[in-house]
Amino acid sequence: MRYFITGTAGFIGFHLARRLLQDGHEVVGFDGMTPYYNITLKHMRNAALAQFPAFRQVMAMLEDRNALEDAVASAKADVMVHFAAQAGVRYSLENPRAYLTSNLEGSWNILEIAKDAGVKHLMLASTSSIYGANPTVPFRETDRSDEPLTFYAATKKSMELMAHSYAHLHKTPTTAFRFFTVYGPWGRPDMALFKFVKNILEDQPIEIYGEGKMSRDFTYIDDLVEALVRLSSVIPSEANRVSDERIETLSHQAPFRVVNIGGGQPESLMTFVETVEKALGQPAKRKMLPMQKGDVPRTFASPDLLVALTGYKPETKLDVGVKAFVDWYLDARSDLERQLEGVR
Ligand SMILES: NC(=O)c1ccc[n+]([C@@H]2O[C@H](COP(=O)([O-])OP(=O)(O)OC[C@H]3O[C@@H](n4cnc5c(N)ncnc54)[C@H](O)[C@@H]3O)[C@@H](O)[C@H]2O)c1
Repeated sequence: MRYFITGTAGFIGFHLARRLLQDGHEVVGFDGMTPYYNITLKHMRNAALAQFPAFRQVMAMLEDRNALEDAVASAKADVMVHFAAQAGVRYSLENPRAYLTSNLEGSWNILEIAKDAGVKHLMLASTSSIYGANPTVPFRETDRSDEPLTFYAATKKSMELMAHSYAHLHKTPTTAFRFFTVYGPWGRPDMALFKFVKNILEDQPIEIYGEGKMSRDFTYIDDLVEALVRLSSVIPSEANRVSDERIETLSHQAPFRVVNIGGGQPESLMTFVETVEKALGQPAKRKMLPMQKGDVPRTFASPDLLVALTGYKPETKLDVGVKAFVDWYLDARSDLERQLEGVR
């Protein structure tokens, strides 16, 4: 199969691309190498992908319509996967424009181009953040998700809505995935695991928000990728409708569905900190801070729809996944530390 994937220099796009290449597929990767975090890590991911002859990399921004159009046309892809975005919850307070252009204009360009590209399946990365501070857990895809707490979440929800209208009008089968705190090797330097490991090793304090009372449904990267690989062949169509109407989100108007990718096993932030300490064999200096503007108290996925569609749900235990990250970090440490000075 041929895949066109945006955001392949990023954490999740890199992992999916590598898995597909290992499975013998062809991948064209598209990434603008944005400077949100140190691009050296992005270059390192690109270099790892470039070892596969079936990988081709296009470096351009989603907002560059002509470049995106040319890249999609030359890829002749069966499946398009759209990960490239301005990610991160807190940065959306600092620089909302980056979210406006990448996540709204950029995603709209993807929709416009996909409608004429004849792809069998368009896959889009959305987020658990769209559930905001919903009090009812676990979060089901059928729950309301129209009270986003951050502009990041608002742009992702908007992408889902734009995609539904395009799926209705142009019939491109489209699935939007709501990811829950993805972590693992090659992870993002702006996320807690990376920052905690780095600071503990440097004997610096770690900042624990919400006085440690928040919880997150952590998803290990390999589990996420496995779910994505399985879902790529579950085309949203009436033939694939799940009979349990309480969980099915397949639209009655369009070949469009949203699916959570999360295991439904939330952990408290303090358990997370202890797990990192254990993996490093070193205690953290803890700096307890209040919740930050826009933080949600918890995330908790219902995996029922994912299981109904694929027979699979993320299962990797937090201690196993954190250990894998720490092993990778220690291995890549000297390279990373030299190259990641001044990361966010
Ligand atoms: N990591 C998580 O826990 C998580 C959780 C929920 C949702 N998501 C979503 O998953 C997707 C991938 O996230 P990630 O963690 O790999 O993030 P990432 O920042 O590591 O990767 C995103 C990539 O997109 C590229 N990019 C950003 N804006 C671009 C633009 N306008 N044009 C071209 N390229 C651009 C960046 O250079 C980067 O390499 C994102 O859509 C993100 O919102 C991630």
